[in-house]
Amino acid sequence: MKHQPEKPRVVTTVAEMRQLVQSARQEGRRIGFVPTMGALHEGHLSLVRAAKEASDFVVVSIYVNPTQFGPQEDFAQYPRTLEADLDLLAVYGIDVVFAPSDQEMYPAGFDSWVEVGGIAAPLEGRCRPGHFRGVATVVLKLFNIVQPDIAWFGQKDYQQALVIQRMVADLNVPVEIRVCPTVREPDGLAMSSRNRYLGPESRQKATILWRALCEAKQLVAAGQKDTAVLAAHLRSMIAAVPGAQIDYVAFVDPQTLSPVRQVDRPVLAALAVRIDGTRLIDNELIAP
Ligand code: PAJ
Repeated sequence: MKHQPEKPRVVTTVAEMRQLVQSARQEGRRIGFVPTMGALHEGHLSLVRAAKEASDFVVVSIYVNPTQFGPQEDFAQYPRTLEADLDLLAVYGIDVVFAPSDQEMYPAGFDSWVEVGGIAAPLEGRCRPGHFRGVATVVLKLFNIVQPDIAWFGQKDYQQALVIQRMVADLNVPVEIRVCPTVREPDGLAMSSRNRYLGPESRQKATILWRALCEAKQLVAAGQKDTAVLAAHLRSMIAAVPGAQIDYVAFVDPQTLSPVRQVDRPVLAALAVRIDGTRLIDNELIAP
């Protein structure tokens, strides 16, 4: 029989998590941290590999954080696949999976929130009011529980990474944030736990996000620098896909996320599109 690697240790309480981190620290180990909501895929695993390479005590959190979902959003349906996630993580030899309950993270009386300002306002912030408040709050809590030296985030959620970097700088959180490139399916679709919602037909349609971003790149390379023209082109391309509904098509400054008129310097193209009701996001940096 083939030898199965052992599943990682699962910790569900803040007290036990702190104890483990404290002893790792006393042994002089460098703590690496990858926060996730589970339903793990290659995107998550790329962060785990990066963490494993750069640190010697790796914690992965798996927690579907209720406070970052709006009332009409998919919190209840969000895939919860802990045993399969642990199997995927087994080969990496990580040290701990932190998988707390809602009660552990938000006990009765919980009433403090992290509000990040301007960078959290446009794009996802505009479409999902309260989302980044939930994200910043849970990530700060996780940082305080795990006390990592380095934490990894994906470019797939570009604005989220900026929000976390802003929070860490502003609140003097002693952690280094590293951002890893977006991992894609062979046809370009950005990996996402939400891709599981897509039936075969919707899955096919979902390639429109990456195809649109590639089209933008090509138009820029061919000399089209006007982002209004680019956005109009992408919008009509996406609108031609039945069942595709655009939340935004944006060309923004990669640092401030404010709108850019001309691609005369690197620009972030960011998309949010619903495909047959499933909301997907993607982005790509485009150089002139
Ligand atoms: P989740 O969507 O599970 O993503 C966890 C991390 O994996 C995030 O940093 C995200 O950007 C990264 N990631 C997701 N898909 C990726 C892909 N295709 N390529 C590279 N990285 C990818 O983001 C969250 O969870 C939550 O908001 C969280 C930060 C855990 C707070 O609850």
